[in-house]
Amino acid sequence: MSILIRGGTVVTTDGEFRHDVLVNDETIAAVGPDLEAPSGARVIDAGGAYVMPGGIDPHTHMELPFMGTVASEDFFTGTSAAAAGGTTMCIDFAIPGPQESLLEAYQTWRGWAEKAACDYSLHVAVTWWSDQVREEMKTLVRDHGVNSFKHFMAYKNAIMCDDETLVNSFKTAKDIGALCTLHAENGELVYVMQQEIFDKGITGPEGHPLSRPPAVEGEAANRAIRIAQVLGVPIYIVHTSCADSLEAVTRARHEGQRVFAECLAQHLVIDDSVYRNPDWNKAAHYVMSPPFRAKEHQDALWKGLQAGMLQTTATDHCCFCTDQKRAGVDDFRKIPNGTGGVEDRMGVLWHHGVRTGRLTPSEYVAITSTNCAKIFNIFPKKGVIMPGADADIVIWDPNKTRTISVDTHHQNIDFNIYEGMEITGNAAITLSRGLVVWEDDQLKTVRGRGKYVNRPPFAPFWASQHKRNELAEPTAVKRED
Ligand code: URP
Ligand code: ZN
Ligand code: ZN
Repeated sequence: MSILIRGGTVVTTDGEFRHDVLVNDETIAAVGPDLEAPSGARVIDAGGAYVMPGGIDPHTHMELPFMGTVASEDFFTGTSAAAAGGTTMCIDFAIPGPQESLLEAYQTWRGWAEKAACDYSLHVAVTWWSDQVREEMKTLVRDHGVNSFKHFMAYKNAIMCDDETLVNSFKTAKDIGALCTLHAENGELVYVMQQEIFDKGITGPEGHPLSRPPAVEGEAANRAIRIAQVLGVPIYIVHTSCADSLEAVTRARHEGQRVFAECLAQHLVIDDSVYRNPDWNKAAHYVMSPPFRAKEHQDALWKGLQAGMLQTTATDHCCFCTDQKRAGVDDFRKIPNGTGGVEDRMGVLWHHGVRTGRLTPSEYVAITSTNCAKIFNIFPKKGVIMPGADADIVIWDPNKTRTISVDTHHQNIDFNIYEGMEITGNAAITLSRGLVVWEDDQLKTVRGRGKYVNRPPFAPFWASQHKRNELAEPTAVKRED
């Protein structure tokens, strides 16, 4: 089956081109002016629209078991909702508990993900340390297409990993050509502050951000960065939410250290006033970690994106419905942490990023798709409109307006954190490996059509890191006996 996308403006990180795009089966076959439609091909008129690589969300948690419950969005509903918003690939997380096998967790998540409608991949979390963990990291990289490992520096007494684990895991990752990613919050501080705030009688959702101030994130980001610097290993910080951690990233990058950082669409446009809503449910809907921040942090994040200090945008899509949030009705520490938004990231970033002039369309493509494909080593299979790439494409109508609402969204959650936000710029048609999965505001996704995307290791590139960080090779002093 062939599809010719005619008359649109193709956007890459290099620029905008009035090109047609020919798709044969699952792959982009040609990109250029005035392409011929093969006989029998469907021709899509993309006049007035942008033709962009489908979004890649590097941070989702479909059907995650967490804090005594399970995220309500599964791999089929979640990847379908993603497609409705122009996202065609998610990188989710296999998260073993302490003492649990990484390989078994990976296999469990692979089983759950078989129902995905669009392509996906898996980071694997390192939540404890032993020789078994080291060997399983090697096996995952060698045999299972995993090139990134996640470290939670928060969630004490659950999945938090200590510095010993960080150091061991970073060293192993360097040897095997994998990228270490980090949830940067000081879990010890959070634990102590949660208790103090609760003991003061602050039991509602407003206690959540009070127990996780920006400095808690800044400290952890800086610690991870400095450990990585000493070991000469690249790292990737997830959901950078505040100026404090962004400053640590910026300083490291200015020093030549290879540190990548992600921010979430919701942290760019929603501030911490949501926690002071007198309606408990509405305040609890926004309990996630790191929490929403004061407005000045949003300004810092936008500047970080514009300056290239933040390379990717994600959602941390981790849906818990109102009933699930109510597990913490008497104690904010028990509210399951997580918010949704996989469907809305592309539209929110276009509206608040491109339409405001903060980002060009090319920069938008970089931060929603291409940079992620490059950092996680799946470029140019994903993240670009070019011959040979997978036909993951969004035909983007810059004038299509939508008011985000739980009443119309496709996400499996009973509220929307962007409720009532009007955005202009939305997906008109989404193709997932050549199949039209979103058109005329209708989902056409197929359960189980999504494929697992192998991500190869980065070995030759990694070997240069020690030199790059300009740390001297250790030498012994020669002494006369
Ligand atoms: O609150 C959040 N972010 N929940 C999901 C787990 C995580 O920290 O990424
Ligand atoms: Zn996290
Ligand atoms: Zn997460």
